[in-house]
Amino acid sequence: MANSLFFIKYNLVFLLIYLWHSVNGHPQCLDSRPPFQSHGSLSFCTDYEDFGCCTRSDDEVLRNRYRRIESVVSTTLWEACSHYAKTFLCQTCSPYAAHIFDSEQSHNSTEVVQRVFPGLCRDQCSTFYQQCKELITPYMEEVKNEDTLEEQIRLENAYRHSESSFCSAILLSDNDYCYPELLTNPILNGNISIEKVTGEGCICLQPFEAQFRNPVFLKHTNDGTDRLFIGEQIGLVHIMYTNGTLLPYPFLDIQYDIMTTQAKGDERGLLGMEFHPNFTSNGKLYIYYSTHLNEYEVSQNFGDHKIRIEELRVNLDFPDEIDVYYSRVILEVYQPWWNHNGGELLFGDDGYLYIFIGDGGRAGDPLNSGQDMFSMLGKVHRIDVNKIDPVRKKEYSIPPDNPFADGIKGLPEIYAFGVRNIWRCGKDRGDRLTKHGKGRIVCGDVGQGAVEEINLLKKGANYGWKLKEGTSVFCSTCQQALREIPLTEPIWDYPHAVGKSVTGGHFYRGCESPNFNGFYFYGDFMSGRIFRLTEPKNPKQKRWDNKEINMCGSNMCKPPFISDYSTSIISFGEDEAGEIYMLSTSYPSATSYSGSVYKLVDPSRRGNPDACKNVEIPTTSTTIPTTTSTSIKTETTTPFKPVFPTKPVVRDNSGSSVTIAPFDKRLMNYLDYYKKHRRRNNRRNFQTQFKQENRRQQWKGRTYATTPPTKYVKDSRQKTISKTPRKDAISKPPQLIFHGINIQRCKNDRCSLRKIMPQK
Ligand SMILES: *[C@@H]1O[C@H](CO)[C@@H](O)[C@H](O)[C@H]1NC(C)=O
Ligand SMILES: *[C@@H]1O[C@H](CO)[C@@H](O)[C@H](O)[C@H]1NC(C)=O
Ligand SMILES: *[C@@H]1O[C@H](CO)[C@@H](O)[C@H](O)[C@H]1NC(C)=O
Ligand SMILES: *[C@@H]1O[C@H](CO)[C@@H](O)[C@H](O)[C@H]1NC(C)=O
Repeated sequence: MANSLFFIKYNLVFLLIYLWHSVNGHPQCLDSRPPFQSHGSLSFCTDYEDFGCCTRSDDEVLRNRYRRIESVVSTTLWEACSHYAKTFLCQTCSPYAAHIFDSEQSHNSTEVVQRVFPGLCRDQCSTFYQQCKELITPYMEEVKNEDTLEEQIRLENAYRHSESSFCSAILLSDNDYCYPELLTNPILNGNISIEKVTGEGCICLQPFEAQFRNPVFLKHTNDGTDRLFIGEQIGLVHIMYTNGTLLPYPFLDIQYDIMTTQAKGDERGLLGMEFHPNFTSNGKLYIYYSTHLNEYEVSQNFGDHKIRIEELRVNLDFPDEIDVYYSRVILEVYQPWWNHNGGELLFGDDGYLYIFIGDGGRAGDPLNSGQDMFSMLGKVHRIDVNKIDPVRKKEYSIPPDNPFADGIKGLPEIYAFGVRNIWRCGKDRGDRLTKHGKGRIVCGDVGQGAVEEINLLKKGANYGWKLKEGTSVFCSTCQQALREIPLTEPIWDYPHAVGKSVTGGHFYRGCESPNFNGFYFYGDFMSGRIFRLTEPKNPKQKRWDNKEINMCGSNMCKPPFISDYSTSIISFGEDEAGEIYMLSTSYPSATSYSGSVYKLVDPSRRGNPDACKNVEIPTTSTTIPTTTSTSIKTETTTPFKPVFPTKPVVRDNSGSSVTIAPFDKRLMNYLDYYKKHRRRNNRRNFQTQFKQENRRQQWKGRTYATTPPTKYVKDSRQKTISKTPRKDAISKPPQLIFHGINIQRCKNDRCSLRKIMPQK
């Protein structure tokens, strides 16, 4: 691994040097962002409509400037010279504006310093000076600002002195960009046309300041609140706005229930979260995490730990917090070993919850879970969380069209099988115009020793593990099975020379980087490489088109963008607008604050900011579904009141805001509730609540990067700090077949939480 990291670094350095020379002539706006197509919305600087840097409002500002210059000069001068005024003003709309105005950024900020005059080529300057030099002063008066005062004086003096001193003064440091020769300059390809592809196949990243401990997911609620929910493996979920503001306390804290360690590469922890499709009206969400076995389960040698899928609800008073009184365990599955725990949770467009569970760990799937149709492990499951199943005594029901819905040939939960350890999936929201691709789900399935694969999710598909690893045969003694069992091939796979642990990604359907449309971005955790897949044009072609995505050079990725990143790629996510984020770390431990969030950006072309500002946000439902046929019988007595404001309750970072309810009052409420319902052993018990509150108080007024509460990290392999010391599960394979949990089997009331929830 050290070797491969070195290799990557070496490659990046090489790449940067290479790109520095090859993309010198790169279009760039004054704000260092790429140009865009304004689709006929300009009425003044119309030359730059197809590919330029001005929005409609920028264009109007320029027209007004033009009018003001006109109003202060003589009619004769204006008749002869107005076209110069327009040309100069409109250069800020040029796709090469950053170069024509020699714009520079100070090293410590994103502030741009730009010159007053666009760089004119010698001949152009000469003609202009001879015919229209009286325009110089009124033009400069109009465009000046505090920063350009000095320059203005210098140019004023030069202009009074002579033509040659003026034309020297406005010469560009790189004269290749002088106007108008840049329009035909072969170095700039003689053309200003819409960049159809993403530069040299490279991207930039927009980093966020906040650091996270192994950030495993980034989700949004699709309710127009612009919140990103970033999950840390250790059991916390934080809210960050897309502008980078991080709320000072977590949305969810289940550290006490999480089983993980600070060991690099521990795969247990909080692994997934998904909001209900009707979150805006019911406030529900689902989490997927590794948790400790209870004493009974330990005594029965049920394995290393269990994964739990649990329904939670947002706090009706504070939409930025979880409701600690509400919980419903949907499903628990025992995990024989510590690794391959899967962890993705997704709602399909069909409204069902998809659950991606790994093969249970160890090399070569020793329990043959992937092909065992009566094991919950090594599968993709699909369940209906809106209805309980009173016959099977489950907190969910089986969608009638599940491939084994009758349970005869396999578990009715199964939707697809033969998977090893699916790590991250993306659901396509479809092309913005045609809706092509809408609803399809593509996942990365981590390989064993040779091949990493990407799968397109299909009902009833057998992805082959452990008969095959990707497209290559894994079980060499399974010739008959390989001949007889129909397998679904991955849409892409790659050998370990490319990367050793795939991280599935997302389809880009955002507005800001139109060239990315339809790209499925994904990466590799070990090699740190980023790729994209596109659907083949020929539908007969089973394999998708794959391309490695490199970082552009620092000449293209100017602040706020960067071209370097932490290479352990953990996850990808998307925001409400469909922009894609990458989550990676430089030290993959659940307790190390080395994880970063980056937004993927195309430096060659961006979406029209006018259009992207107004990306359609789904209309938030304000109607409260009273009791619908699908509503769950286990609702608490307090019906959930959707109180989602269009704006979230925002607290300032100092924590001094008053919106937090008085602690004592909430505590009293909780005690009442606690007594009333005798929720013994509820994991969010009084003590936890107290500790959470305590910590929240401590967090007030601080930056968020406090020391991780390591004492709550439970290590199953260190019996001394483990709450439920395990029997030696790793050396002894579990004796039971892991069919998922039978809730009734648990003695501890944790497993029958439903019973102690007040009934309607
Ligand atoms: C950038 O540095 C300059 C000089 O070192 C300083 O005056 C300025 O305040 C700095 N700006 C920021 C945003 O830190
Ligand atoms: C600009 O591009 C167009 C179309 O791609 C081409 O026909 C034309 O020759 C190009 N102009 C120059 C100067 O290269
Ligand atoms: C970021 O956005 C949030 C919500 O819109 C807002 O409250 C906050 O002030 C913004 N922060 C900055 C630094 O602009
Ligand atoms: C969401 O609510 C709508 C309207 O009440 C309903 O038709 C739909 O089935 C719900 N979706 C899910 C996934 O529950």
